Amino acid sequence: MIQLVERQRPDFVVISGDLTQRAKPEQFREARAFVDRIEALGVPTLTVPGNHDVPLYRVWERIFNPYGCYRKHFSPELEPVYRDEELLVVGINTAFGWTIKDGRITLRRLLEVEKILRATPESVLKVVVAHHHLIPPPNFGTQEVLANAYEAIDLFSSAGVDLILSGHLHQAYIGSSEEFYPKGRPPVVILHSGTTTSNRGRGGEREANTCNWIEADGKSIVVSHYRWHHKLGRFAEHSRHWYPRQELVPYTLEGLEAPGRSREPVPARPPAAPTATI
Ligand SMILES: [Fe+2]
Repeated sequence: MIQLVERQRPDFVVISGDLTQRAKPEQFREARAFVDRIEALGVPTLTVPGNHDVPLYRVWERIFNPYGCYRKHFSPELEPVYRDEELLVVGINTAFGWTIKDGRITLRRLLEVEKILRATPESVLKVVVAHHHLIPPPNFGTQEVLANAYEAIDLFSSAGVDLILSGHLHQAYIGSSEEFYPKGRPPVVILHSGTTTSNRGRGGEREANTCNWIEADGKSIVVSHYRWHHKLGRFAEHSRHWYPRQELVPYTLEGLEAPGRSREPVPARPPAAPTATI
């Protein structure tokens, strides 16, 4: 992963939670050191906690100080916000001490996020990050989603969110909110990250390590799914997905050029890359 960051130099890295297995101090120190190596390359990062970052068996801590270790060893901010002229990334904490593994978005946080989104210019790429998923994972067995997911999708869609990122499932999904909540609203691109560094991949990604690489410009979002290839000894692009920016152009792929149809030689990466995430 560090080599991928060194090689491709993303503008930004998002880590969607579950930094640790059991929220132990040494695990947080290792996670912090890993993220420090990314930031040492000049790449800013944003992280939200996952359910594994809250102690499971240390019950007293779980009830009265669920984020103590996360705050002390990793980051004091549970719901960070990053913004620059081109990119807004809003973190949402969905992992709480009183639930074992299910997540929730609080209505308080939804109202805060709505204010942030509506105060941001239309041209800015708007990204929300929550550890737990907001749409049911296809072919996954359970169809559970986090509490208040429907309300969140409604709000994010109407407030012009371009991308919703999450983790938790250890299996990637790259798609759109309209596949699950078709209501005629503008669809939002939804990305679930697989597991990037652990051996706990599930479903089609059992024992696989994956991550998502995102590039965006004023008109489009291009998501590349990366998988670790043992033979190559590195992460390599596995599939590529094109989406229009919903707020800026009509929802159509017309005018976006598929790589195979291009008359020009296809570059290794589209040239405009104002934002990227892993
Ligand atoms: Fe999780």
